[in-house]
Amino acid sequence: MRRVLVIQHVADEPPLAIGDVLAAKGISVDIMRVDRGDPVPTTLASDGLVIMGGPMGVADTARLPHLGQEITLLRDALAQGKPILGVCLGSQLLAAALGARVSPGPAKEIGWHPVTLEPAAQGDALFGAAPQQFIGFHWHGDIFELPAGATALARSERTAVQAFRHGRAWGILFHLEVSRDAVHGFTRAFADELAAEQLDGAAIAAAASDHCATLEQLGREVFSRWAELVLTLGPQRTPFADLGGAAVVHDLAMRFYDAMEAHEPALTALHECESPGKVSRGARERFALFLAGWLGGPQDYTAQHGPPRLRMRHREVPVDAGMRDAWLRSMTLAMDAAGITGDVRRYLDARFAEVANFLRNID
Ligand code: HEM
Repeated sequence: MRRVLVIQHVADEPPLAIGDVLAAKGISVDIMRVDRGDPVPTTLASDGLVIMGGPMGVADTARLPHLGQEITLLRDALAQGKPILGVCLGSQLLAAALGARVSPGPAKEIGWHPVTLEPAAQGDALFGAAPQQFIGFHWHGDIFELPAGATALARSERTAVQAFRHGRAWGILFHLEVSRDAVHGFTRAFADELAAEQLDGAAIAAAASDHCATLEQLGREVFSRWAELVLTLGPQRTPFADLGGAAVVHDLAMRFYDAMEAHEPALTALHECESPGKVSRGARERFALFLAGWLGGPQDYTAQHGPPRLRMRHREVPVDAGMRDAWLRSMTLAMDAAGITGDVRRYLDARFAEVANFLRNID
């Protein structure tokens, strides 16, 4: 039987329709109540991960350590390629795990507001059958930028990114899982916030009768599709996994700099060097971390140094055709020396060439 771990932050925001759909599909749902002190695991043993909403934010990690632990768990689930669904706070934590900035929006978005799907949603595994526009239920203050490598799926008038996909992870900022009763529960549980925002809770609750039927139908469709991923997907094959994991990727990065130092003095001189012709240990280790994340492994580089943003990092580096070729020669020698062959070699040859060309900034 497939299992899904659901992290719940407060009593009033349980998995609701998500839990119902998963159970109906024969998936076992393990609910972790961090508000009751349930410990957050560092790695995901289950087949999928759902993170629900809550009245706290990514900025509260110091006050609420479980939030930081959830980000670590998300990074592990991302590295394993397991299906992830982040709802409201869960989507903010997912965005943070991917290195995106999460910050307070210009104003809180609470209540019933239109959600518009982005063109990319048409081919999306979850939103592919959803109407181009619908009324969603919103209750958030924080918003996030689109994480590097993610696809924007939805927006609203007030919030540029309302949903996104990154690999097999979906972040949905608005609430698709609520029922009429749940909305009433929200307005009772968070009445102080409504008062502070001078919002009419009774009107918001009453409007649930107009909107919930359509929203629940859409929710069942979206969550059923996510459940199918949990049921059908095996472990994801990544170049990182195909190469043999962290040690092999680290070795490749070291061999890359060895080849560069041995054969490409001009390129070597552009790098941070600890002595003439010797690239610093720090630069070598940072590149090794980057390579692991870039090939589908742990996102530690992003965690420690922020998103790679390759174009920006190479803006001051004179990359003409000669430097590009020197870089590729060094990587080719390194892959030869590491004995990398077959499909993964063909993939890497193509990807490195593609990015090296992309980084060329001198004709
Ligand atoms: C096309 C030829 C390339 C040249 C001449 C080049 C050169 C450089 C240099 C000089 C730096 C150090 C910049 C600094 O410390 O400020 C650097 C950093 C970096 N390069 Fe390249 N690079 C090239 C291609 C690539 C490619 C294809 C990738 C990825 C596949 C890549 C990934 C990186 C990363 C991640 C860093 C930053 C590592 C850190 O945090 O220190 N580079 N590159």
